[in-house]
Amino acid sequence: MTTSDQPTLYERIGGEQGIVRLIDAFYDRVLADPELAGFFQDTAMDTLRRMQREFIAAALGATVSYSGRPLGQAHAGRGITPKHLQRFVAHLLDTLRADFDLQPEDESAIVDRIWTLANDVTGNYGVDV
Ligand code: HEM
Repeated sequence: MTTSDQPTLYERIGGEQGIVRLIDAFYDRVLADPELAGFFQDTAMDTLRRMQREFIAAALGATVSYSGRPLGQAHAGRGITPKHLQRFVAHLLDTLRADFDLQPEDESAIVDRIWTLANDVTGNYGVDV
């Protein structure tokens, strides 16, 4: 709980169980997208899912710490463009809408929070859009 007794987004999404459900369903969508699947072909998905659970939980206000690499480092040199990021975030929103019973403003708040990280993912390493 925050000091104002408002549940955090993390609590509203169902805490740890909600995050596990979200990340699993979200990556099912990402891996089913032919424009994104290739990025993950050499990735150990179990590890990635674990890292993303920590990361998203922390981003939504949980008191867990993220033990992975900085986002810039994890994504550098992969050729991820804003178009890829757009699709990635669209899958996140679709997952929230399909599998969770959130208010539309909570869905937007989660997506907005993820968007604030976009520059770290597409990076300052000169991609062509
Ligand atoms: C704001 C959006 C995003 C966030 C918050 C995010 C977050 C993360 C996190 C937390 C990791 C784990 C890092 C680690 O293991 O140390 C990761 C890894 C990864 N992400 Fe993202 N990501 C985003 C967007 C994307 C997009 C758009 C793509 C590709 C289309 C992508 C592809 C990858 C890949 C391939 C890895 C695994 C790297 C490896 O195999 O070591 N990510 N991401």
